[in-house]
Amino acid sequence: MRLSRVAGLAAFASMIAGAVASGQTPPTPAPTRGAAIFAERCKDCHESGDDRTPPLAELAKKSPDEIVAALTTGPMAPIAEGLSPDDKRAVAAFLTTR
Ligand code: HEC
Repeated sequence: MRLSRVAGLAAFASMIAGAVASGQTPPTPAPTRGAAIFAERCKDCHESGDDRTPPLAELAKKSPDEIVAALTTGPMAPIAEGLSPDDKRAVAAFLTTR
């Protein structure tokens, strides 16, 4: 009797451990947030294939700082209006780490 209870408890404990391990979600990495911002605010132009708009591969060659600068004081500033500094860094991280 005692033994089976111990075994039952052990099984229960390992079930909980398994649930905790699989239920843990890693903190959202910046690229995921950047990807969402890109899809929402940038994709229409930057994946349009229009020759005046640098495609993703071109943006990926820039440094994150250059992208943040383009969004803050550069040609993309009017478009990026409303994005927080963190949003800009997230989208820059997404573009440069793909
Ligand atoms: C309305 C269309 C449009 C949207 C939306 C748009 N872009 Fe652009 N983007 C352009 C065009 C056109 C250029 C080229 C501008 C130039 O060379 O003067 C450009 C250039 C850039 C550049 C290069 C700037 C430089 O200094 O050479 C970056 C970086 C960039 N865009 C990032 C973004 C990001 C990030 C977003 C989303 C927040 C975005 N763009 C949204 C049209 C757009």
